[in-house]
Formats: sequence, structure tokens, C-alpha cells
Amino acid sequence: MRKRKNIITVAIDSPAAAGAGTQAKYIAEEYNLLYLDTGKIYRVIGKLSLDKKKFNYRTVKNKVSSIKIKNLEDKSLLSDKIAVAASLVAKDKKIRKIIKNFQLNCGYNPPKKYEGSVLDGRDITSVLMKDAMFKFYITADIKTRASRRYLEFKKLKKKITYNEVLKSLKNRDYLDKNRRISPLIKTKDSILINTSKLSKKACFKKIKTIMDKKINGSL
Ligand code: C5P
Repeated sequence: MRKRKNIITVAIDSPAAAGAGTQAKYIAEEYNLLYLDTGKIYRVIGKLSLDKKKFNYRTVKNKVSSIKIKNLEDKSLLSDKIAVAASLVAKDKKIRKIIKNFQLNCGYNPPKKYEGSVLDGRDITSVLMKDAMFKFYITADIKTRASRRYLEFKKLKKKITYNEVLKSLKNRDYLDKNRRISPLIKTKDSILINTSKLSKKACFKKIKTIMDKKINGSL
């Protein structure tokens, strides 16, 4: 794979609903980077898996090759059912391999109009972009994450209770942290950002301070 030289690469890992997506979008905007929410790709495949008749490695491959980043904004991917399905397909080594190239290409070869890339997910700092210029592990306590996700579901008019959201997040945390292949871990070289008690803007300020120091220092 061709790698663009002298680009800014930002790798973020986080458990579900910790606020990583929000921070990744701020980072992308501030530094003019391509943003890829890698969880959305697993959600697309999770959604495909719910249609058992059409689900095999060939259909997964076809689906991945047809993905356009702007189609990942599709609101139907946000349901809890699809999130859980995503977590289940994400345990499959072959499926992860199929998805890997698409992600690497976004990470290391973003379109010329961007200064670089920011990817968030579960295995970005540990597997996908080990050599990223910046590595963050963004987290928040489980109750904070559950109430944030519950409010998001309420806005989308999804019928789900707070307790169901809490239970589902705990289940996904367990699946994502304990799977054999590419489990969610905080790598030693990732900077920990705990968003529990900070506003979105306050979190970003922390991240920006860290990034500016290195970017300006290296220019
Ligand atoms: O981030 P999001 O909640 O959309 O991710 C859905 C699921 O996709 C996660 O719970 C995880 O199992 C899987 N995933 C993954 N590796 C990534 C991103 C997401 O295994 N890089």
C-alpha cells in the first residue's frame, strides 16, 4: 500500500459511547483531516449479518468494496440491535481482515485535499495504526456513557430504556475487551483522556494542546 508522506495521523480507541467520535470530528475539522469512524464499517457488516440469507465472506467483501465514507452517516446504523450485531461480526478474524485494507487506505493515503487522517475504533492504536503520530485512548465511566447514549437514542425516537442501554453497553464492553482477536486495550503509548467530568469543548482543548505542541514543534 502507498503511504502519503508527512501527513498528520491520529489514532483513537475507546469503549462505546465515550465521546471519541465527537472528539475525532473536532480534530478532523481543526486540522483538516479525513475522519473515519471505523465502527460504522462494522455496523454495516453487522446489519448485513442480520439478513442471514445474504451473509458470507463473499457478500462481506462486496459490501466493503462498495462503501463510501459519506454513506456511513446513515441513521439506520445507529440502532442498538445493529451495534450488538457489529460486535459479534467483529470477533471474526476473516471479516476483520477484509475491513483492514479499506481502513489502512483511509489512514495512510487520505485524499490530497486533507492534511492527514483521524480514525477511531477499538484496534486503531493497537493494530491498525501503531505508528500514528498521535494515539489517544478516550474513555468515561459506564454510567456516564449509558446516559449519553440513552439521550442520543431518545433524540432519534428509539424505544429503549436507560437500563437496557446500560446492559447493552456492558455486554459490548465485555465482548470488545475479551475477544481473542484485536481486543480493545489501552496501549502504553496512548494518551488517556477521561471525558466523564469534562465538557466536549474542555476535552478538545486538552487534545488540541497536546497536538499543537508536537505539530508546531516539528515544523
Ligand atoms: O464504535 P461503534 O460502537 O460504532 O462500534 C460498533 C462495534 O464494532 C464495536 O462494539 C466493536 O465490536 C466493533 N469495532 C471493532 N473495531 C473497530 C471499530 C468497531 O471491533 N475498530
